[in-house]
Amino acid sequence: MVVDNLFTGKEKNINIKAKFYKLDIQDSGLESIFQKEQPDYVNHHAAQMDVRRSVSDPVFDAKTNVLGTINLLQNCVEYKVKKVVYASSGGAVYGEQQTFPAPETHPIRPISPYGITKLVGEHYLYYYKAVCGLDYTALRYANVCGPRQDPLGEAGVVAIFIRKMLNGEQPVINGDGEQTRDFVYVEDVVEANILAMMNNTTDSVFNIGTGIETSINQVFNLLREIINPSIDVKYAPPKDGEQRRSVIEYTRAKKTLHWEPKTPLINGLKKTCEYFRNI
Ligand SMILES: NC(=O)c1ccc[n+]([C@@H]2O[C@H](COP(=O)([O-])OP(=O)(O)OC[C@H]3O[C@@H](n4cnc5c(N)ncnc54)[C@H](O)[C@@H]3O)[C@@H](O)[C@H]2O)c1
Repeated sequence: MVVDNLFTGKEKNINIKAKFYKLDIQDSGLESIFQKEQPDYVNHHAAQMDVRRSVSDPVFDAKTNVLGTINLLQNCVEYKVKKVVYASSGGAVYGEQQTFPAPETHPIRPISPYGITKLVGEHYLYYYKAVCGLDYTALRYANVCGPRQDPLGEAGVVAIFIRKMLNGEQPVINGDGEQTRDFVYVEDVVEANILAMMNNTTDSVFNIGTGIETSINQVFNLLREIINPSIDVKYAPPKDGEQRRSVIEYTRAKKTLHWEPKTPLINGLKKTCEYFRNI
C-alpha cells in the first residue's frame, strides 16, 4: 500500500497492484490505515523535497518533514513495524564538504532548512530505535536522476535541461557551471532500498551515491550531445546559498548492503531523455 497526499507525486506513477491512500502523513487518520493494513515494513519517502521552498517557507518544510515523520514513526511503533527505510539526503545533510567524496562520518552541517529536517528524521529514527526498538536504515541519497523525476527535486537540473532542450528553448546555467553534484540513477537507488529492507545490519546510515563528481557544465554537455549538439550554452548569476561541491562515498553500502551503482551517468541520462521524449 502507498500513502501519499499527491503534493508533488502523481497518481499515474503508483503501481496499480498497490492499494493507495491519499492522505497527508501528518493526518491523525494515518492510524486507521496502520490498524487496517498492519504493515511489516515501511519505506518512508514522503517529504517536502524542494530545497528552495524550504528556504522560503521553513515552517511548511518542518511540518511535512518533521511532524509528518514523527506521526508516521509513532504509528510504526504502535503497530510493531519490523523495519523502516528512510530516504535521507547525502546532498543536503553534510553541507559544504571538507572531504571529497564525503563518507557517512563526515561532519554534519546542513545549510538549508531541508537539510536540517532530513537530518532530524534520522535523529528521530535513532531515538525510536534506542527507546522503542523500532529497526531502521537511513539512506542518504546523492542527486537521484531518472525517468519521472521532478524538476523541483534535488537533481532537478537534469529534468530542467532536458525539457528545455527537447522544447527548443534555451537552458540556463546558474553560476559558472563548475559547481558539482553526484548523480545516481533511480533504478540503482531502488535496488539499494530493497537491499536495505532485507538486511539485518546494525549500521543504520548509508550513503547511496556514485562517488563521482560531475559539474553542471559536464551534465549540460552530455545532454547537448544526446539531444542536439548545436544548442548554445548560456549563463546567469549564481543562486544564493547553493552548495559548491557535493559528492558522497558509498564504501559502507558496498561492504554491508553489497550495493554499488551500476548505471553510468551517460546511460542514465539517455534513459531519462527517452522518458521525457515520450511524455
Ligand atoms: N530526488 C533526489 O535527488 C533526492 C535526494 C535525496 C533525498 N531524496 C528524498 O527522497 C524522497 C523522494 O523524493 P523525490 O525527489 O522522489 O520527490 P517526490 O516529490 O517525487 O517524492 C516525494 C513524495 O512525497 C509526497 N508528499 C509530500 N508531502 C507529503 C505529505 N505531507 N504527506 C504525504 N505525502 C507527501 C509527494 O506527493 C511525493 O509523492 C524524499 O524524501 C526526498 O527528501 C531525494
